[in-house]
Amino acid sequence: MHLLITNIHQLLNIREHNHLLRGKAMADLPMIKNAFLVIHKGKIDAYGSMDALPEKVYDAVYNAAGATILPTWCDSHTHLVFAKSREQEFVDKLHGLSYADIAARGGGILHSAAVLQATPETGLYDSAIKRLQELMHLGTGAIEIKSGYGLTVADELKMLRVIRRIKEQVPIPVKSTFLGAHAVPHTYRDNKQGYIQLIIHEMLPQIAQEQLADYVDVFCEQNFFCDTDTERIIEAAYKYGIPAKLHANQLSVSGGVEVGVKHKAISVDHLEAMNEKAIHSLASSDTIGTILPTAAFFLRMQYAPVRKMLQENCALALASDYNPGSSPSGNMNFVVSLACIQNEFLPEEAINAATINGAFAMGVEKEVGSITVGKKANLIFTKPIASVAYLPYHFGTPLVDKVMIDGNWI
Ligand code: NIG
Ligand code: FE
Repeated sequence: MHLLITNIHQLLNIREHNHLLRGKAMADLPMIKNAFLVIHKGKIDAYGSMDALPEKVYDAVYNAAGATILPTWCDSHTHLVFAKSREQEFVDKLHGLSYADIAARGGGILHSAAVLQATPETGLYDSAIKRLQELMHLGTGAIEIKSGYGLTVADELKMLRVIRRIKEQVPIPVKSTFLGAHAVPHTYRDNKQGYIQLIIHEMLPQIAQEQLADYVDVFCEQNFFCDTDTERIIEAAYKYGIPAKLHANQLSVSGGVEVGVKHKAISVDHLEAMNEKAIHSLASSDTIGTILPTAAFFLRMQYAPVRKMLQENCALALASDYNPGSSPSGNMNFVVSLACIQNEFLPEEAINAATINGAFAMGVEKEVGSITVGKKANLIFTKPIASVAYLPYHFGTPLVDKVMIDGNWI
């Protein structure tokens, strides 16, 4: 079936070639005004200016009536599977405790782990799929999901099986990341090295055998896992052909960026705490820097120095970090707004970071991330908006009118 979509006010992020964007190139968002788009078998088949619409008979025609169309958001960093929200810690933070204070007294990730360990697989699946369906209606059309609230062999496997089931059930690309090194569990409180042994010698072999993870992640941070710990874990994962995506430089200059770059991580994520050395290391590599502005917002922390990183020619993506502790929202529209308001991304840069570069940051760039012939027709239709800048500018307002996945309305 050939579906013709007419009268598109702006068709955004049209790209003949699939390139990761870095530095200055991130400000270029190619578009056609007053455009048409043809979808065939769930894929983008053709597009162009309405003036050049070929005179052909189509099976169906949809009049977009002035909507702007862009590729759906590619959210390359989430912790979508969790058992329970943590609003009590939110209140504790309002009373003055920091994220690190809460973690140090056994709250935070360890609290989420305790609740998740007591929750059966079906319960986790049901709540996670509900969250994902909400996100798809907000425009997310590809997602990465991490484990990391299990922290035992059985519970990390349980989380990864939930992610696998999500992959099988939803029409959008889903990537799964093993984050056993998210925190040192209570049982290994005085024996971090013992826990790392468990990750390397028990968790990883089973995960590799069942093909449960596309990537490995480590929370490379003071009081969590240092750069040497991180290196050991990602080297062990590479032996199974599992590349790294890291939590790096969130609360402190952790050395995580340099370790990630050295081991050709697909991405290093957070980057709120960067120095010159870390920026240079990232800029001169193929590793993508993933910025998570809603985590900095929610924790009221410094924002990643995006202008400096773009000046130095880094390739940046944007993601939601959806999790119960530091970003209890997966709304990528807000991520894009906040990225402009607080990280000083330009609107075009932010949209590129949340689409094509996000796709590269989870290895789904051949399927999604731009308006390219042959890619999935995963599309956001906006309410009428005059310009690209209006999208991040009018923050908090639901501007996503309709979403199409594989050429079907959801
Ligand atoms: O990306 N920093 C580590 N992990 C999450 C927070 C997880 C949690 O607090 O539950 C993050 O911010
Ligand atoms: Fe995270």
